[in-house]
Amino acid sequence: MIDLSTSGQGQEGYGLLAAQLESLFADEHDFIANAAQFSAFLFNQLADLNWAGFYLNRNEELVLGPFQGQVACTRISFDRGVCGKAAYTRETQRVVDVHEFPGHIACDSASNSELVVPLVKAGRLIGVLDLDSPTIGRFTAQDQAGIEQLAAIFLRLTDC
Ligand code: SME
Repeated sequence: MIDLSTSGQGQEGYGLLAAQLESLFADEHDFIANAAQFSAFLFNQLADLNWAGFYLNRNEELVLGPFQGQVACTRISFDRGVCGKAAYTRETQRVVDVHEFPGHIACDSASNSELVVPLVKAGRLIGVLDLDSPTIGRFTAQDQAGIEQLAAIFLRLTDC
């Protein structure tokens, strides 16, 4: 595992993860296969996460997709939670302390900070990628840039 939070080499770490992801998706473009692999990859390669996975856009509602972590809420409307805000605004939500976020949905009481990246391909909202951590302030601006880069690789190499 690359501990990006303490290595002080975050960008190099994400560069390596990007290369690994390119290779993981080189010969496989199926959506469910790649989404499942991506959630397992993030959960195991990034330090200090308690949940990593997808909520998918189904007629303007988010429905749980492939993930790693505890059982989670199945459906989230666009006007609820961090995931809903990322879907509605199509902007990454980086939340230092989820308890300060109005409307945060506590699927796992262990979660204290969260990063949600909207997944948009050819102008269409596919869903969101949601990462949760038990540590307040786990996700830095550098993490956001690195994870957005990984999400872009997933979108480019996956049929969706
Ligand atoms: N906390 C999220 C809900 C999803 S779980 O964290 C897996 C939210 O507020 O949207």
